[in-house]
Amino acid sequence: MKAQVLESKASPFVLKDVPMPIVNAGDVLVRLKASAMNHRDLYIRQGTYPRTNYPIIIGSDGSGVVEDVAASVSRSLIGSSVVINPGHNWGTNPNAQQREFKILGLPDNGTLAEYIAVPAKYILPKPEYMSFEEASALMLVGVTAYRALFTRGSVQRGESVLITGIGGGVALTALQFALAAEAKVFVTSGSDAKIEKAMLLGAAGGVNYKSAPWAIDLAKLSNGFDLIVDGAAGAEFGKLLDVASPGGRVVVYGSVQGKIQNAEAARIYWKQLSILGSTMGTEEECAAMLAFAEAHRVKPIIDSVFRFEDADAAMKRMESGEQFGKIVLRNDQ
Ligand SMILES: NC(=O)c1ccc[n+]([C@@H]2O[C@H](COP(=O)([O-])OP(=O)(O)OC[C@H]3O[C@@H](n4cnc5c(N)ncnc54)[C@H](OP(=O)(O)O)[C@@H]3O)[C@@H](O)[C@H]2O)c1
Repeated sequence: MKAQVLESKASPFVLKDVPMPIVNAGDVLVRLKASAMNHRDLYIRQGTYPRTNYPIIIGSDGSGVVEDVAASVSRSLIGSSVVINPGHNWGTNPNAQQREFKILGLPDNGTLAEYIAVPAKYILPKPEYMSFEEASALMLVGVTAYRALFTRGSVQRGESVLITGIGGGVALTALQFALAAEAKVFVTSGSDAKIEKAMLLGAAGGVNYKSAPWAIDLAKLSNGFDLIVDGAAGAEFGKLLDVASPGGRVVVYGSVQGKIQNAEAARIYWKQLSILGSTMGTEEECAAMLAFAEAHRVKPIIDSVFRFEDADAAMKRMESGEQFGKIVLRNDQ
């Protein structure tokens, strides 16, 4: 089969023939129709993601059709259209994943390929109202946004929610889910145009984090945020504590701006803030996320769709930071 292979750190993809995946006991073989990119893929390609071993076929998100199954798996799955839960081996504790937890696409080969073999328990029916491209784009960001907003952030109807870096995949999905949950949502972005697009989707307002007084401007927009969902961290994280409401929750799921700095402890304890980390989600949360999306007819916002052969161009798009939504690769159908 063909796959896009990363052969070494910071190198372009190499489109090449590789052996078909081995279908182990309990596995299904999926012929992939679409895959979607995540920021993690960029980190892996740059070589900044922990414990990266090359060569590797990256890609955590995929959708397609089951073409074969292991002897132990029901043959009735053959021919079904499916999406893949990218989070594997969560374990039995819903509060945190076990040490063996892994995300598809490292260390195991991922979805930038014609085929993938995954344990049958990680496939779910593709929602019929979504295309293969849309369904693949929903999975990793969907489960991350769902756990961050609902399980960790306990978002409530009518609450004031701030989502940072709205151009990102997780952020945009969090915006869609928070709006579906009837929260009042504000955003930040490095682009005024992206803030406008977010407002067209239903955001109540937003500020550009590249403007110096962004936190002051944010404070003027809302009388404090009950919940902040942040994927940036970095030097300006402390400003999020300034704009959080007393008793508010700050859920951190990413760190595109690097290490948290300048976070004043007194802000956290005097304002009774809860700082909550969130990563991916359990199998139950993945299924609940799909059900929630389906009930509210949420479709992921797609920035662009590239041909499978053009994975490098797709990666360049992600590197540019210009995207608004998910970057998808479409396999020949
Ligand atoms: N914990 C988890 O389970 C999990 C899951 C998925 C992703 N992540 C992490 O979450 C982060 C985002 O991932 P993604 O795939 O959604 O990324 P993405 O689609 O590549 O988007 C990255 C976004 O970061 C935003 N950004 C950059 N500088 C910012 C700043 N100073 N303040 C606020 N936002 C800023 C940008 O927003 P604008 O374009 O609007 O400026 C950009 O769209 C990454 O660190 C990723 O590793 C974690």
